[in-house]
Amino acid sequence: MREAEASAIAHRRERRHSRAPARTAAQRMKDCLTFPLRALTLFHDDRWGLSSLASERFDYVSREVTGYCLDVGCGRHNRFIREYLDANGHGIDVYAYEGLSDENVVEDISQFPFKDGTFRSVTFIANLNHVPRSLRDIELAEAWRCLTPGGNIIVTMGNPVAEILVHKVVALHDRLFGTEHDIDSERGMDEEEQYYLTDSEIIERLKRRGFADIEKKYFWTQWGLNHLFVGWRK
Ligand SMILES: C[S@@+](CC[C@H](N)C(=O)[O-])C[C@H]1O[C@@H](n2cnc3c(N)ncnc32)[C@H](O)[C@@H]1O
Repeated sequence: MREAEASAIAHRRERRHSRAPARTAAQRMKDCLTFPLRALTLFHDDRWGLSSLASERFDYVSREVTGYCLDVGCGRHNRFIREYLDANGHGIDVYAYEGLSDENVVEDISQFPFKDGTFRSVTFIANLNHVPRSLRDIELAEAWRCLTPGGNIIVTMGNPVAEILVHKVVALHDRLFGTEHDIDSERGMDEEEQYYLTDSEIIERLKRRGFADIEKKYFWTQWGLNHLFVGWRK
């Protein structure tokens, strides 16, 4: 995508940054009580009156977004920006998944195709561990450059054991039931990708790239087995 197009999109950013919390307290309680069942069956789509892990994750992240948002590693259909931020943002990915256009697919991800300070928030949702190790600092530096001062970065990551289990369960589910939930296998994982990153690696990398006031927040409806980090570009 050309930089001019990207900056035109940026002008649409003066809008509500995150929709109202989609889940009631009763829904969250139900989700919390059924977490093991959801973890084994509901990866992407809500069903049986319960929230999927993905939609719940998007919900937690959307509450941290402060304005026009860049979602790095957006995955199929650019779902977070389209469904959770009322399209107030832009998703990019390295792979041409179903539902992505040329605007979303970035050939050289070491240079985000946006001007300095284009975004109020940048998100890496279930993604930073899938960025090859040697690219992580480079992409975090790009995130910092593309953020406006006062903007924030949001990085989600699961607990190490949960991350390994979820990756295995999703792959097994696809094999047994012929589903296609495992988007990492569709793309083919690079040997520099990992199933999870430790807190210390994430915090160190964020600090090294200039992010401050880093905070960790747990997803309590997933029994604390998933969490996010928020950091700020001062
Ligand atoms: C587990 S998926 C998460 C997708 C989406 N964010 C979600 O939460 O559903 C990991 C994503 O990281 C993307 N990815 C792989 N390498 C990447 C890179 N170098 N930079 C950014 N994203 C990358 C993949 O293509 C994939 O869409």
